[in-house]
Amino acid sequence: MAPPSTAHPDVALNLALAVIAASTAPLLLLNGDLTLIAASKSFCRAFQVEPQSVPGRALGALGAGEWDVPQLASLLAATASGYAEVDGYEFDLKRKGQPNRCLVLNVQKLDYGNQDNVRLLVSVADVTDARIAERLKDDMLKEKAVLLQELQHRVANSLQIIASVLMQSARKVQSEETRTHLHDAHQRVMSVAALQQQLAASSVADVALRPYFTTLCQSIGASMIRDHNQMSLDVSVDGSVTSADVSVSLGLIVTELVINALKHAFLGEQSGKIKVDYRSHGPNWSLSVTDNGIGMPADAANAKPGLGTSIVQALAAQLHAVVKVSDAIPGTAVSIAHTQIAAVRTTAAADRAV
Ligand SMILES: Nc1ncnc2c1ncn2[C@@H]1O[C@H](COP(=O)(O)OP(=O)(O)OP(=O)(O)O)[C@@H](O)[C@H]1O
Ligand SMILES: [Mg+2]
Repeated sequence: MAPPSTAHPDVALNLALAVIAASTAPLLLLNGDLTLIAASKSFCRAFQVEPQSVPGRALGALGAGEWDVPQLASLLAATASGYAEVDGYEFDLKRKGQPNRCLVLNVQKLDYGNQDNVRLLVSVADVTDARIAERLKDDMLKEKAVLLQELQHRVANSLQIIASVLMQSARKVQSEETRTHLHDAHQRVMSVAALQQQLAASSVADVALRPYFTTLCQSIGASMIRDHNQMSLDVSVDGSVTSADVSVSLGLIVTELVINALKHAFLGEQSGKIKVDYRSHGPNWSLSVTDNGIGMPADAANAKPGLGTSIVQALAAQLHAVVKVSDAIPGTAVSIAHTQIAAVRTTAAADRAV
């Protein structure tokens, strides 16, 4: 803070000199004409300046002339005249045979109520090491992002390779049942591969569900639908974004349900409609896969739960969601819903009952 203009100039000067002498920070005290009055010990040490050479010397003549920076001089002169304020002025101190130092200057005008007695208190902060550390941190973060993307590419590639090996095996085997199993395994791997592709394409770990489910269903449709004019697989998803692990679970559920519809709902039929729908509202969300096929078998013996049912149940439980299978008349609608409010209400009702 500038001393009050009523202070006697000598008292004020002595005060300023005492501050400089006691300071551990690099400080300079200058006259309005930019000649030096004093420099703190830490300034002389940090910038290799002889303390005795300081008083009376022009700032530009300090050291080997490295402080002779025209822009700095004009800023200081403007500050002394009251036309400018120097707050965080940054410049590179260039010295022969030494690496440049990045300095940040703050200047305080000490006004003694008389234009001839203007003094400038300059504090000098050397931020070179902090800037290097910052740059290093930025570089490391960038490198980490690149490595993560590289890893995701590799995982996606490996999954594609596993999927194609499964497909080749499916073509070779004689047994129809084994072929179906290999096809299903291929689809399950492909659903994770599709997610990996989405992750590799984005820089963040969050996954937008619309493009993900669209790619996923395109991939399932490409290998399982023969005539796309007759059999439609529509995806309707709002703008929801989820974390990578939640989207893996949702993607696997979609895969199981869409494969089920394609495998079981249209026996012998060539035409049909399958719809995948996902929407969320706050923490609540619902996913449904609906077909207009023959519906679930009425007799329990024919609706023997397979691996698909266990996968869907396990993933839904992991997501704290409830699976509901209903008649779509015609067809089947399977919905998986996570309703946080309902869950809270249920708990509250149970508490009251106790
Ligand atoms: N959309 C559907 N339409 C008609 N029937 C269905 C539908 N989805 C499932 N089913 C019936 O429910 C049964 C159980 O399905 P689930 O996915 O558990 O096993 P799967 O599809 O037979 O075998 P897996 O999933 O292990 O390959 C199926 O065999 C089928 O009879
Ligand atoms: Mg199934």
